[in-house]
Amino acid sequence: MRIETSVTRLLGIDLPILQAGMSWASSNAALPLAVSRAGGLGAIAAGPMYLAALEEAIDTVRAGTDRPFAVNMPLYRKGADEMLDLLEAKRIPVIVASQGGPGKYLDRFKAIGTVCLHVVASETHALKAAGQGVDGLVVVGGEAGGHPPADLVSTLVLVRAIARATEGRTPLVASGGFADGQGLAAALALGAGAANFGTRFIATPEAGVADAYKQRVLQAGTADTRTVGRGFGMIRTLSNDFADQMVALERDGASEATRRAHFSAATLKMAALDGDVTRGKVEAGQSAGLVDRIMPAADIVAEIARDYINCLRAMPQQQPVDLSAQARQR
Ligand SMILES: Cc1cc2nc3c(=O)[nH]c(=O)nc-3n(C[C@H](O)[C@H](O)[C@H](O)COP(=O)(O)O)c2cc1C
Repeated sequence: MRIETSVTRLLGIDLPILQAGMSWASSNAALPLAVSRAGGLGAIAAGPMYLAALEEAIDTVRAGTDRPFAVNMPLYRKGADEMLDLLEAKRIPVIVASQGGPGKYLDRFKAIGTVCLHVVASETHALKAAGQGVDGLVVVGGEAGGHPPADLVSTLVLVRAIARATEGRTPLVASGGFADGQGLAAALALGAGAANFGTRFIATPEAGVADAYKQRVLQAGTADTRTVGRGFGMIRTLSNDFADQMVALERDGASEATRRAHFSAATLKMAALDGDVTRGKVEAGQSAGLVDRIMPAADIVAEIARDYINCLRAMPQQQPVDLSAQARQR
C-alpha cells in the first residue's frame, strides 16, 4: 500500500508513518528496522547510546533493509560532535535533530544528501529552522511523551499554527497524541504530511524497554500522565511514586534545589532498562490511553495504514454546495 504525501516524497517511503525517536525504546536496530521495512520510517534514538553501539545499530538496519531510516540526534548531548562525525561518515539517509539549532549540522548533512528534519515545539522555532533551510519539521505538541513544549500547546493547535506560518513551503510531521489510523487522518487534515508515533511503538516486542514499562503503557488511561520538572527539562511521564511526589513538591512550592534533586534522582533508564516503573521516569504520551495491545511493529504500521483508509471512507461525503445561494434563500 502507498499513501503519498509531501513527507513520503521527501523521504522516499511508502507510508506517512514515522516511528518517533525514543531514548532506550528505539536506541537499537530492531524497532527502526521493523518500521522501515514495513514502509514507514524508523528512527534510531542516539541520545543514550555509545558511539560503537550506534554504529552497530546503523549497520544492522542497513543490512536488514535498503529502505530509508533515520537517526534521532539530540544536539545538546555530551559527545554530540563525535556522534555527528559518525553519522556523516555513515551517510545516514535521514537525521531527526532535536534540542539545538540547525546551524550545528545542516550544511554538512545536506552536502551528502541526508534529509534533515528538525524537531520544533513553537511557531518561532519552526520559522527559524525553516528559514535556515531544513528539509522538514517535526512539530511536537503538548500531548507528547518525552519532552512536550513548555507551554503545553496541543498538537491540534500547534500543527495548524505552524502549517499556516510556513504556508505549505516546508513538509511537516505532526508529533504527540497519535496512536492509530484516525490520528494519521487528523494529522494530514491539519496540514502535516505524516504523523510521528512514539508511545504506540513502545507496545511492541521490538521496543528496547523492560516488559514492566510496556505493561504500564497498556494499563494507562488518557488522564494517567503527568508533566513534571518545569524549569529543568519538563517531561510527560506516567503517574507513579516518582511523578506523584514531583507533582506534590511543585504544588507545595518546594525549593528549586529540592525539586531538582528529586527530578534528577529518577531516570528514564531506571524504568526502561531496570524495569523500576515505581521510582523511574516512565515517559509516555497521553496517547498511552489509546494503546491496549502489544503488537509487532510491522503489524502496527499495516494497521494504521488500513484504519486510515477506512477512516477516510467513513467520513461524510460532501456534495459541492453553494452556501451563498442557500443564505440568499433564507
Ligand atoms: C519514552 C520516550 C522517550 C523519548 N525520547 C526522545 C528522544 O530521545 N529524542 C527525541 O527527540 N524525542 C524523544 N521522545 C519524544 C518522541 O520523539 C515523540 O515526540 C513523542 O513520543 C510523540 O508523542 P506520542 O508519544 O504521543 O506519540 C521520547 C518519547 C518517549 C515516550
